[in-house]
Amino acid sequence: MALKRALIFLGPPGAGKGTQAKRIAQAYHVPHLSTGDMLRDAIARGTELGRLAKPVMDHGDLVPDDLVMAMVEERLAARDCDGGCVFDGFPRTLPQAQGLGAVLERLGFGKPLVVDFHVDEETLLRRLAGRWTCSVGGEIYNIYVAPPKVPGICDRDGGKLIQRSDDRPEVVTERFRAYERQTKPLAEYYRRQGVLEVVDASRSMEEVSRALAGILERAQK
Ligand code: AP5
Repeated sequence: MALKRALIFLGPPGAGKGTQAKRIAQAYHVPHLSTGDMLRDAIARGTELGRLAKPVMDHGDLVPDDLVMAMVEERLAARDCDGGCVFDGFPRTLPQAQGLGAVLERLGFGKPLVVDFHVDEETLLRRLAGRWTCSVGGEIYNIYVAPPKVPGICDRDGGKLIQRSDDRPEVVTERFRAYERQTKPLAEYYRRQGVLEVVDASRSMEEVSRALAGILERAQK
């Protein structure tokens, strides 16, 4: 199966973008580009970008557009993106969406395919409260619906599972605010371009995966 385009997952914190992006990236053999993961990696490595991003992320705000765009442009230039990629958590603002459009055009990609994940807030809060992530490979678990076989240990690589510091309730509230203000309007931006699909992401992981497979199949006809 070939993707040959940029797939963008829009949606609030905890909607399941990362979970589904990993599955699609594996099925289509394309990179999963999570700007959240890239920024957390920069923080862990103690880079200048990480130093600038940390206080912003700890507060639940968005990292400035110029920093995020530079990071994404550099990553997109790598050869492994030639066959397409899955963006998770990017773009998040109108300038990022416009910037991405220009980069994709320059690199010879067609229009992206955008999927907006719809989930009610109560479900999102429960998902975020139950999320544990592998500190080694980034595998995502949920103690309520997708627990690891051994508590605290990743099934895949034995890594220690950790909770994200921005999943604390007070930071989650700020992340929801930032999403409503800056990211939600992008659905309308992409709808006007005729590239927006919507998925009811409050269903089980398998049901959401099936819905996404249907969307991709239709888009490739
Ligand atoms: P980021 O890492 O992108 O976080 P987010 O967008 O808030 O999304 P999450 O990772 O919290 O949720 P998700 O939708 O991926 O859900 P997941 O699959 O994990 O961003 C973090 C921060 O970085 C931002 O606040 C900002 O500061 C900064 N940042 C990042 N990108 C930026 C950008 N472009 N511009 C500026 N700043 C940026 O699932 C959640 C849980 O639910 C898991 O436990 C999972 O197992 C479970 N789950 C998933 N699907 C289902 C299902 N269908 N049913 C039941 N449980 C499910």
